Amino acid sequence: MQKSTEPDPRSDGVEKYADVNWDELGFSFTPTDFMCMMRCCGGENFSQGALVPFRNIELSPCSTVLQYGQGLIEGLKAYRKEDDGSILLFRPEENALRMKMGAERMCMQSPSVEQFVDAVKQTILANKRWIPPPGKGALYLRPTLMGSSSVLGLRAATEYTFLVFASPVGNYQKAGTGLNLVVEEKFHRAIPGGTGDIKAVVNYSPTIKAAGAARAKGFSDVLFLDSLTGKYIEEVSGCNIFMLKGNILSTPATNGNILPGITRKSIIELAKDFGYQVEERDIPVEDVFDANEVFCTGTAVGVTPVASITYQDKRFEYRTGEETVSFKLHVALTGIQSGSIEDKKGWTVKI
Ligand SMILES: Cc1ncc(COP(=O)(O)O)c(C=O)c1O
Repeated sequence: MQKSTEPDPRSDGVEKYADVNWDELGFSFTPTDFMCMMRCCGGENFSQGALVPFRNIELSPCSTVLQYGQGLIEGLKAYRKEDDGSILLFRPEENALRMKMGAERMCMQSPSVEQFVDAVKQTILANKRWIPPPGKGALYLRPTLMGSSSVLGLRAATEYTFLVFASPVGNYQKAGTGLNLVVEEKFHRAIPGGTGDIKAVVNYSPTIKAAGAARAKGFSDVLFLDSLTGKYIEEVSGCNIFMLKGNILSTPATNGNILPGITRKSIIELAKDFGYQVEERDIPVEDVFDANEVFCTGTAVGVTPVASITYQDKRFEYRTGEETVSFKLHVALTGIQSGSIEDKKGWTVKI
């Protein structure tokens, strides 16, 4: 990995913390010192990544990412471990593979899994002082892949830029007692045969209007329905959804319309270990009305309980708090991610 000549926060060998009020961290963007960048041109493999100071990038106004949305993002978190101060990453190869799948769908070239994971690790190490103290949050990494050459006719780019930048973020759970969702009936997030199952940048801005309108009415976010029939729940704008009835945990199947969340996959495995029956299936919206618990999963939200779902002006409420299954799953997951619970699954990568 090449490195710029800027001061290196690692160079004095003494770990310092950045000047951040760690107790006030939310999920807003805090720029950090370095980002990692690499390029590939004309069908060649990606170059070696270079750490450069975090800054604005230069991009042709005619680049395919700006003109046609030929871009993909990923999101993952690095945690500072309590006992030895080492850094833990959660299942980074899964993010790399998901980006590869997305690149295939969007006719983009992507870095190899090794290049992706290495770029993430280098970005973390170069921004070590921005990793929150244990228990205060995580360093959020945002790998981004974009078509960066100029193309006027609708075609794929011939040059791709991959970069990884970082921002410290706080714990989502402390924000409140649960999400209040409203079922969105007018706008849809994904269409069959579309890009709902990849992290394409084009999937996100169309959800802002619906989520913004919901927030203006006091809801936390929207729950999208399938666009074909409007009968089945799919997911929230940035996370997957689960419901619990008795011993059965159900979540919408990965049918091409929802993002196959890495947290979702991990929670399915942990729930099975705890003895719950897990069903991945089409879930009619009426099915959630009498659920005992509903919760959302994702890198940003972790496992967050849903306190209520409102559908056509009817509000359905669910159990939240420390006695719930979602809390048990939250504790198990965050324990593994932060290293306070032994990782018997080999999910964490120590840096
Ligand atoms: C639309 C959407 N669904 C679900 C998720 C959860 O995925 P993961 O658990 O991999 O973060 C995300 C976040 O990446 C998302 O953007």
